[in-house]
Amino acid sequence: MRLAHTTSLGQLYEADCLEFLKSIDSGTVHTFFADPPFNLGKKYGRKGSDSISDAQYLTWSYAWLDEAVRVLGPGGALFVYNLPKWLISYGNHLNSKAALSFKHWIAIDKAHSLPIPNRLSPSHYGMLYYIKGEKPRVFDRDAVRIPIAVCRHCGRDIKDYGGHRKYLNPKGLNLSDVWDDIPPVRHRKYKYRTPNELAPQILERVILLTTREEDVICDPFVGGGTTALVAERLNRRWLCADLNTVSAAIRRLTDLDNGCHPKWRSTSKTRLPLEDQGVRNLPLFR
Ligand SMILES: C[S@@+](CC[C@H](N)C(=O)[O-])C[C@H]1O[C@@H](n2cnc3c(N)ncnc32)[C@H](O)[C@@H]1O
Repeated sequence: MRLAHTTSLGQLYEADCLEFLKSIDSGTVHTFFADPPFNLGKKYGRKGSDSISDAQYLTWSYAWLDEAVRVLGPGGALFVYNLPKWLISYGNHLNSKAALSFKHWIAIDKAHSLPIPNRLSPSHYGMLYYIKGEKPRVFDRDAVRIPIAVCRHCGRDIKDYGGHRKYLNPKGLNLSDVWDDIPPVRHRKYKYRTPNELAPQILERVILLTTREEDVICDPFVGGGTTALVAERLNRRWLCADLNTVSAAIRRLTDLDNGCHPKWRSTSKTRLPLEDQGVRNLPLFR
């Protein structure tokens, strides 16, 4: 396990997920997020295999999921992003834990894939959302409201909301469990590495919904660094790792620090970080 980069808010390791998670004290993480390899035979780097038997994949997944549950503090949130095929088994495993409560299966719309014989076209990724205990520590629905769409030219509403416009919360619409407004990371200027960089908007929602400034986010499969980047941008502390090189994540964090990371279009009415409140000097919660 190698500490590859630090900021005043976070620590980035090159490490195997289990070794990394075992180094974290129990109950010290506020939100855990994982976007693991999907066992689809992808090449992420020199280390690890993304092509193992289903049984091996699930045994390995349950080992890191158990660690995720251990490191979460009371009321903390656990998010796991994966294919529905794996999430059904993950859910079964997590449901067997008395410490957890199921909150949501979030469907994240993805572009249609090529036709597959005898199958419907897979058109969403899933994201499980559990909490430790029965009550979430933070569930800030106002931070992730969807702005009511208005015409850029005349300022009038674009939709009629079935005649119920006057009952809508003026702060914006409630976020649902179907996210069909996440733009794909396609443009080269947003890509810091080729394989599977998640859209920052997904992490932005996860973090804004379930944490406050200064809270700790943990991601053991950080890849191109999306979780660290968004946590940093939102003034949250973070602990992240990846088995393979984290050089792309370091470049992103450095670009953010230098003010030259490309801005992403927020899907939330994001509250900007409070730069001057001293949170940047807080020690890591470890
Ligand atoms: C789907 S990618 C994550 C992408 C990331 N969410 C992003 O936005 O860039 C999965 C990552 O898991 C890493 N990985 C694979 N096996 C691992 C292990 N045993 N421990 C830690 N990371 C691992 C891979 O190197 C890869 O970067």
